[in-house]
Amino acid sequence: MINIPRGTQDILPAETAKWRYVESKLHNIAANYNYKEIRTPMFESTDLFARGVGGSTDIVQKEMYTFKDKGDRSLTLRPEGTAAVVRSYIENKMNGDANQPVKLYYNGPMFRYERKQKGRYRQFVQFGVEAIGSENPAIDAEVIHMVYNIYKSFGLKHIKIVLNSIGDMDSREEYKQALIEHFEPHINNFCNDCKNRLHTNPMRILDCKVDHEQPTVKTAPKITEYLNDYSKNYYEEVKQYLDLLNIPYIEDASLVRGLDYYTHTAFEVMSEAEGFGAITTLCGGGRYNGLLEMLDGPKETGIGFALSIERLLLAIEAEDIQLDVEESVDIFVVTMPETVKEAVKIVAELRNAGIRADMDYLGRKMKGQMKQADRIHATYTVVLGSNEIETNKIEIKAMQTGESETIKLQDIASYIKGE
Ligand code: HAM
Repeated sequence: MINIPRGTQDILPAETAKWRYVESKLHNIAANYNYKEIRTPMFESTDLFARGVGGSTDIVQKEMYTFKDKGDRSLTLRPEGTAAVVRSYIENKMNGDANQPVKLYYNGPMFRYERKQKGRYRQFVQFGVEAIGSENPAIDAEVIHMVYNIYKSFGLKHIKIVLNSIGDMDSREEYKQALIEHFEPHINNFCNDCKNRLHTNPMRILDCKVDHEQPTVKTAPKITEYLNDYSKNYYEEVKQYLDLLNIPYIEDASLVRGLDYYTHTAFEVMSEAEGFGAITTLCGGGRYNGLLEMLDGPKETGIGFALSIERLLLAIEAEDIQLDVEESVDIFVVTMPETVKEAVKIVAELRNAGIRADMDYLGRKMKGQMKQADRIHATYTVVLGSNEIETNKIEIKAMQTGESETIKLQDIASYIKGE
């Protein structure tokens, strides 16, 4: 038997309804904020992520599905959406669009070779947004407001928004030096990746999955101590907007995010629900002021976030929230052996009229067909015998109440629609 690849999952019919419900709500919320959908390929040039996400990140060093195609090009299944959206923005010259800033959202599978755990998959679906072309604390607040509304709209109560600023490139340069001084005397206690990162990108030591429990990680200097005036002011203004919008948040100076492109605003949403599991981050995002230039694009800046549908559904489950997704049919047409052909026609007509209709295809007896109608939560049933066909009248029964009414055969659709 061939099994499903490790770290992936089949989403079976009992779950797909929840997925559709959640995803359609996310599409609607994005529309409320005037974000437009973008779809980019599932794979991109490996270079895009190496340069965009950063060569010394865990994602690029350990987690990418990279392969050569038959033309000997190195391609990578996208591990995240931001670099790809920015690539498309640059390639399609969206900085020239009349509508600015360019506000985009996406929803699709991402791939990371990570250790399988509850809430951590090797293929997962990210819903994310990117607002590109404005460096204004108000748009940072807009993006965080959307995140906040998403979780609120599903009725989640046990979530917290964690906020930090990782400053501009100048602030980060000073911080980098401080981290090198801090870690250098202890670097022999760290994994090889961290040893290599010490001089190139010491911030990545702070979110290394191997070394995150090291005592010197906990006592490391905080980026907030190294923010220059511009960065400090920017951060203050973001917080003022969040207060204006009554968005609760917790500041955490140790939040640095695991991707290299971030500057200024950085945030994550965590679940605090009991029994959620070890991985509690539901969503992550932030501002990326240098990313476009790093990818040879115009001098524009952006901000965005991404959340996985898998973790959103886990949070909904952990808080015992029932989604309104019961899938039912409007009518089940019970047949007799001599009326099957007529039933096939009637069911087809009902479907054409926009009614969710079904019938038996296993030759069940009447009792078995009634049971089937119950199992699929049919709102109505009719029993089609030759008498019904002759008289052109049929009794339509509401399954919940047991009440029934006699109507003309051709009136079934309008009766169900309440016309
Ligand atoms: P990220 O923090 O790497 O950021 O991922 C964002 C979210 O994707 C996480 O908070 C989590 O919900 C989900 N996620 C990540 N890895 C997995 C996994 N293995 N299994 C299930 N869910 C996962 C980014 O990807 C950035 N591109 C976000 C962003 C957009 N920043 C600015 N714009």
